Amino acid sequence: MRFLLALAACLLAAPTSWTLSLYGFNQVKYLENLDLKLAKSSDQQQQQLSPVILVPGDGGSRIDANLDKSAADFGCYRKTDQFYDIWLNKEQLAPWDIDCWSDNLRLVYNNVTRKTSNSPGVTIRFPGWGYSETVEWIDTSHAAVSAYYVNLANALVQNGYHRGVSIRGAPYDFRKAPNEDIHFPIKMRFLIEEAYIINNNTPVTLIVHSYGGPMTLNFLHQMSQEWKDKHIKRMISLAGAWGGSVKSMKVYTIGEDFSNTFVLSTPVKKMLTSTPSLAYLMPSPLFWKPDQVLISTASRSYTVNDYQAFYEGINHPEGWEMYKDVMPYIQDFSPPGVEVQCYYGSDVNTIERLDYGSSSDLTDTPTPVFGDGDGTVNLQSLEACQMWIGQQEQLVNATKYPKADHMGILANVDVLRDVVTLLAGGK
Ligand SMILES: *[C@@H]1O[C@H](CO)[C@@H](O)[C@H](O)[C@H]1NC(C)=O
Ligand SMILES: *[C@@H]1O[C@H](CO)[C@@H](O)[C@H](O)[C@H]1NC(C)=O
Repeated sequence: MRFLLALAACLLAAPTSWTLSLYGFNQVKYLENLDLKLAKSSDQQQQQLSPVILVPGDGGSRIDANLDKSAADFGCYRKTDQFYDIWLNKEQLAPWDIDCWSDNLRLVYNNVTRKTSNSPGVTIRFPGWGYSETVEWIDTSHAAVSAYYVNLANALVQNGYHRGVSIRGAPYDFRKAPNEDIHFPIKMRFLIEEAYIINNNTPVTLIVHSYGGPMTLNFLHQMSQEWKDKHIKRMISLAGAWGGSVKSMKVYTIGEDFSNTFVLSTPVKKMLTSTPSLAYLMPSPLFWKPDQVLISTASRSYTVNDYQAFYEGINHPEGWEMYKDVMPYIQDFSPPGVEVQCYYGSDVNTIERLDYGSSSDLTDTPTPVFGDGDGTVNLQSLEACQMWIGQQEQLVNATKYPKADHMGILANVDVLRDVVTLLAGGK
């Protein structure tokens, strides 16, 4: 037992085996001596910098929980007397704790109200609204393995930005989809207006990663063109998951071990499959053709037109209900009405199809077949932003960074330099 515990501690502590954030639990490397100070001419130094709001992806916000449950499984806490960090605290992912963790984080779907709520007896909050600290580091300890937006924030600080003033953060409930998270657009609007005012009426730059892309797009769809023209300078998307990803189907069928062989994938699967955001991130019918096979079994294949059968096959009828709830949001891919700088990786093996071989039972374990993408999101979803070219007056610039993976893009010096050049270089 003692040996096992030591081994466990070792595995959980080993940075190389540990990766973070659902939608690509791949690690963002913390760049220790990042020096991205750009040479500037003196007149550029005088100009007012566009304040930045960092919008994280799925798994990129911290979650605190407080428990007051009427029942809990053996070995799990029933009550806590204060909030504790449940996402992400890697100790809680140890095999002897992970079932408790999963049960506390899961959502419960009500098919009459068509809304989800927290696990009974669990109060959840998302700390740090408006500040960047909780989206720079996902773990309160600032363990290097929990680095998220920190490299980008450091690069901005080196070029005249200030945390809390011109670098802000927008953490949110990444378990939910826009149909439910009605507070997000309201809070975003006030945060943007505040950042605009305290930075001398300067239009704001939204930097979004992964699922933060679709969330922000939905927000922008709700705002008037007049408001956007006044308050938004541009949106910079990094690995935007615009059209979802086949990885979602992998999570539904196989689960997720966060690329750590020590983490049990079944409890993680139980938690993640209860979230509407996973349904929202299914491959979009706008970007996958009806003849593109997503799943092949001995008896048939499944495409974007077969999701009802897919959810039935995995015994998850609620998933189909959630999918129907989010469908209108998936189908609205009208342009955001602001300048878009859309940066994404490619040439990394990314799940393209799940192969069940000789089985026809979707509850069996499939073998992933790989194609092009950033390791998490398929290329056709990452480059979906190109569809807006010519659809809006504002610039849409899509730039591909070969080999930049889904999380690695936040530690990719070429990408960081391009972002900072755009922001600090007077463009
Ligand atoms: C809602 O869920 C209940 C319990 O799972 C089920 O019996 C019922 O058929 C569902 N109703 C609808 C409208 O899906
Ligand atoms: C498009 O993005 C690339 C990479 O950041 C940049 O070098 C280029 O200047 C951008 N083009 C425009 C027109 O903004």
